[in-house]
Amino acid sequence: MTRLGVNIDHIATLREARAIYEPDPLEAVFIAKNAGAHQITLHLREDRRHIHDSDVRRIVQSSPLPVNIESALDERVIDYLISLAPQRITLVPEKREEVTTEGGLDIESHYDSIRDVIKAFEAKGIASALFIEPKKEAIFLARELGASAVELHTGRYANLMLMAYSNLSRTHRAIMEMNMPPQALQEEINKSLENIALCARLATSGTDTRALECFAGHGLNYFNVSNIANIAQISELNIGHSIIARAVFVGLERAIIQMKDAMC
Ligand code: PXP
Repeated sequence: MTRLGVNIDHIATLREARAIYEPDPLEAVFIAKNAGAHQITLHLREDRRHIHDSDVRRIVQSSPLPVNIESALDERVIDYLISLAPQRITLVPEKREEVTTEGGLDIESHYDSIRDVIKAFEAKGIASALFIEPKKEAIFLARELGASAVELHTGRYANLMLMAYSNLSRTHRAIMEMNMPPQALQEEINKSLENIALCARLATSGTDTRALECFAGHGLNYFNVSNIANIAQISELNIGHSIIARAVFVGLERAIIQMKDAMC
């Protein structure tokens, strides 16, 4: 069974739209638990555009589910998170101008800092995951660095699926570089899925201590999730936007239950 980590950042996005106290991301944690989620995921961004330090503190202190916190390689954020000792910290790249996390970590350019941060996590009993593009080189580096897990970025696969099977291509949000005939899009989707599956096998293969756990996330929704959930080596999916978007209409508990059903 693939575990579901519910990313609750966008509960806080809604709160920040009014700069007030509701909706409270902590309330979402208990609803997620009742709905059968396996983990809570949240991202403390350098710009604090949604989740704030006090959210993280309250959630780590009170969550009945394991907490996975996404963070950039920012010393102040990392030190704060280490002091709270959540179950896991996932290192992600961050750019101020981005709408959401674009692309995976550039491990090569930040090799030494990532190694030091992973060691600091280990010393506090915090598991580490690296959010990476599904590329062999990134997996080799993650193994070498002794990370506990990799999370494969599914954004390209998700965008291809949107261009092939939703009305996105007819809107102002169409992704120009993916503007191709249906058959070509389907071929790209197949290639992208094969590559994700290959990377998942590579990450989890071998019996040595450096085998990684393999997770995936980004852009997953009710329509595209089953292809990824069916990859046996991927043990966990972290999903945010599509669940919160559906929750606006059906409520958070139902939206999570429906996502768990879609993952089967
Ligand atoms: N995993 C990681 C590492 C992320 O950065 C994000 C986005 O914050 C997600 C999963 C969830 O992506 P989405 O909101 O598109 O489901």
